[in-house]
Amino acid sequence: MSALLPAWTDAEGAARVRALFADALGGEPDGVWAAPGRVNLIGEHTDYNDGLCLPLALPHRTFVALRARPDRTARLVSAQEGAASGAAGGRRAVREVDLDGVAPAGSAGAVDGWPAYPAGVAWALAGDGHPVPGFDVAVDSCVPYGAGLSSSAAIECAVAVALDGVGGLGLAGPDDDAGRARLAAACVRAENEVAGAPTGGMDQAASLRCRSGHALLLDTSDGSVTQIPFDLAAAGLALLVVDTRAEHRLVDGQYARRREVCESAAAALGVASLRVVADALAAGTTTLTEVLDRLADDEQRRRVRHVVTEIERVRALVDVLSAAPGAALTGTALAEAGALLDGSHASLAEDYEVSCDELDLAVTAARAAGAHGARMTGGGFGGSAIALVDAASAAEVADAVERAFAAAGFARPEFLVAEPAGAAAPVG
Ligand code: GLA
Repeated sequence: MSALLPAWTDAEGAARVRALFADALGGEPDGVWAAPGRVNLIGEHTDYNDGLCLPLALPHRTFVALRARPDRTARLVSAQEGAASGAAGGRRAVREVDLDGVAPAGSAGAVDGWPAYPAGVAWALAGDGHPVPGFDVAVDSCVPYGAGLSSSAAIECAVAVALDGVGGLGLAGPDDDAGRARLAAACVRAENEVAGAPTGGMDQAASLRCRSGHALLLDTSDGSVTQIPFDLAAAGLALLVVDTRAEHRLVDGQYARRREVCESAAAALGVASLRVVADALAAGTTTLTEVLDRLADDEQRRRVRHVVTEIERVRALVDVLSAAPGAALTGTALAEAGALLDGSHASLAEDYEVSCDELDLAVTAARAAGAHGARMTGGGFGGSAIALVDAASAAEVADAVERAFAAAGFARPEFLVAEPAGAAAPVG
């Protein structure tokens, strides 16, 4: 039977980063903080179009043990770095970054590799005028790396709440959504400007602003959020995540290209963003055909069709979830939710062209094994898919996907269950 990837408890995660800290950096950290990865239920490639998306935080988190330093140096160590380079055992490499010398990606002085995330967060917070100290940090994570589950945003957000803690920024209170939105904005700048990935902001909002038991309706046109109760267990359902192990990279040209085409299409339509088009469709003041007819370029037409119909699907799924009694998805509501997930995948695969063979197979195999709906989640080009399944048949669906992957000669996928968890916070 396919094993489900377990999420670490507070105690387990804290013990790991404390041990790594003592071993690689010496002494005790000031504290331990953790931030979750995410899956997006629906609303893909909408966040950089002022659109809507509906992510939820995973129980799988990145843990950091951090200690403030009296200078402006960051010393950083990650349990994943050794794992990635095959340097199992032995002491992990400690990286060092001069926080006053952090420069934008692509320029001289740019920070190489994963330290760009923590260093970028310190840089962005300092740029906002916050008194951010130098720091020693040890990082370990059970968020699968490169799986489209926001492992990089989880590092950023864990470091953001840690720096908030040691620097006394006062932005990360559990109910301080406005403060958390500011931390999220700093993390997005770290990712865009220091790590050089032109992502849209959904991941950082999910990691810092989600609530346990809820999906987060994020309106990226104004950054506002609405907590949508999402209680799958009440209806005997589960959200199965299939990590296809097909490599997922956002720091390449494809994601940036999608973003550029959306922006040029908006310009051609004379609107500030494609959200304006989606709202006009929702208000009935125009039709999709009318909009698409105004675009000469076929690539633009397909990308626009995805974005505006995807925003519509977010609204529709939120309506279904809000109307489901006791937040329990059953009967027609369940069928509608499943159809919306399926529709999202088709649109991402055909119009947006960000799926791949592994993601398509994960989705079709899950559906054939009884999933109510399934779609790729995250940026695409590899990464993970989600399937809405009966909780009792999650293992069966996972087995079926695993068999289909073996038959196709793909790498063995991994599985986890996404129970909507809470946001980044201190641990213990
Ligand atoms: C990645 C990015 C997000 C978002 C998704 C697609 O996860 O980091 O900002 O654009 O892709 O929805």
